[in-house]
Amino acid sequence: MDIKKIVVIGAGAMGNGIAQTAAVSGYQVTMTDVIEEALERGTATIAKSVAKLAEKGRITEEQKTAALGIETSLDLKPVSKADLVIEAAPEIPKLKMELFTELDKLAPEGVILATNTSSISLTKIAAATQRPDKVIGMHFFNPVPLMKLLEVVRGLATSDETTAVAFEIGKRMGKEPVEAMDSPGFISNRILCPMINEAVFVLMEGIGSPEAIDTVMKLGMNHPMGPLALADMIGLDVVLFVMEVLQRDLGDDKYRPAPLLRKMVDAGYLGRKTKKGFYDYGA
Ligand code: 3HC
Repeated sequence: MDIKKIVVIGAGAMGNGIAQTAAVSGYQVTMTDVIEEALERGTATIAKSVAKLAEKGRITEEQKTAALGIETSLDLKPVSKADLVIEAAPEIPKLKMELFTELDKLAPEGVILATNTSSISLTKIAAATQRPDKVIGMHFFNPVPLMKLLEVVRGLATSDETTAVAFEIGKRMGKEPVEAMDSPGFISNRILCPMINEAVFVLMEGIGSPEAIDTVMKLGMNHPMGPLALADMIGLDVVLFVMEVLQRDLGDDKYRPAPLLRKMVDAGYLGRKTKKGFYDYGA
């Protein structure tokens, strides 16, 4: 399949990272968002990231220029010219379903519609379209330009051909694709979020300070970041949402969200993006 033009829906942390990685890998990329400031912030983040990567010699000047040339759009019109769509909109199920119905109408026949969802059922998203065999999860990891993994998630109707294309694109983007079946949290968040949730229980029960908990996991288990610092990076609202999906869809209370996690989300302490989570990031 000859894929040249990729349209990325959403300019947030994941969307701009995916757009950057695709552009650096030689694809023509358009990044869309409904909020102008989000597009501006996303474009600025890409500029900062490629400047750093070029300075370190991890990408060439040509690759940097390609990323700086990413087009932006406030509507979905570019989808009608796309060879591949990767959606990275907020994790709101109703929004994703409506978006996929719309993308299905706009995208040329045969074009694969991929989603970066971290926990919404692929099978459900695919059912909102007339091309469920062409709908697939391409789940990237934050920060996208640095993280090697691509979790390729198959919905019930996703075809072998679509899966093979997602693998091929992932590899061209410098990622190591891994296949997972559609199931709550897939492989990654089924394992990661309960670990973070347990760290929040440990904090809530007064067993250790945030620094102590993170140090144990960093120095004792060689994790690059402690679970609470990682939660701040992912977003506490995202971690809570994943835990709610795991508890509800697997029907097991071992996945119950830590009350402190819910309380922090209620308070608006969502981590780095609100400058306050388990740690402070300045006002
Ligand atoms: N672009 C370019 N450079 C970047 C960057 C980006 N997007 N993000 C960070 N960097 C740079 C830093 O600025 C730093 O540069 P410097 O050395 O010149 O200052 C360099 O990368 C290394 O960063 P640090 O020295 O601060 O820290 P580390 O060496 O620990 O690396 C890290 C940073 C790669 C983020 C590492 O800490 C890590 O791997 N953390 C775990 C990340 C993780 O688990 N991500 C997955 C989250 S789960 C997810 O996304 C799925 C979702 O569904 C929940």
